Amino acid sequence: MTSDHPAEAGDERRRVDWDAESATFDDEPDHGLRDPVVREAWAARLRGWLPRAPSDVLDLGCGTGSLSLLAAEQRHRVTGVDLSPRMVELARAKLAGRDAAFLVGDAAAPPVGEQRFDVVLVRHVLWTLPGPARVLRHWRGLLRPGGRLVLVEGVWGTVSPVGLSADRLTGLLAPLVRELRVDRLSDDSPLWGREVDDERYALVAVP
Ligand SMILES: C[S@@+](CC[C@H](N)C(=O)[O-])C[C@H]1O[C@@H](n2cnc3c(N)ncnc32)[C@H](O)[C@@H]1O
Repeated sequence: MTSDHPAEAGDERRRVDWDAESATFDDEPDHGLRDPVVREAWAARLRGWLPRAPSDVLDLGCGTGSLSLLAAEQRHRVTGVDLSPRMVELARAKLAGRDAAFLVGDAAAPPVGEQRFDVVLVRHVLWTLPGPARVLRHWRGLLRPGGRLVLVEGVWGTVSPVGLSADRLTGLLAPLVRELRVDRLSDDSPLWGREVDDERYALVAVP
């Protein structure tokens, strides 16, 4: 996510028209992962965050499905959920022929019925959701025993920073989980396609 992204404009974040954004969403290096260097940087991180064995991954706020595709390429079975029908269409097209399903729905209460997952993967979405503590409790309940949350978040921009800091997210999650690891991502410029100086991180948590 780059600092000029419309989702970063303070309170505007909940009013972004993601259907409208979908056409150009993948133009950002860390969104479309079109540059092989950026793509491999995310693939390598995902290999470290996801289980080695093929697993059921729930990608919430999946957007155009870029991370879903990397997970599918690593032999995981993916369910993606996004509120934007247009994003879901693009994700379906991106993963056509793969072991993946995409649903239109709210990440805070995904329409997955009784299905449970080995991984709940969420990149750049939690910070926009009202009531993150309640949402995290719900996501924990979507995991099978031994499952994990993989949350990629940050605080973007320097003039009017927005987002969710690792300290805040750690504080929200600590009472809910047994193991928690924060990987700092700001210095890993291949992930972003450029140098960044704001806070970016991934948090892997096991209840
Ligand atoms: C910044 S994009 C991130 C997309 C994807 N996770 C990625 O990292 O490439 C935010 C996405 O979250 C979706 N979104 C926003 N609020 C949502 C909600 N309450 N439930 C489901 N999806 C939501 C948007 O439609 C958009 O696709």
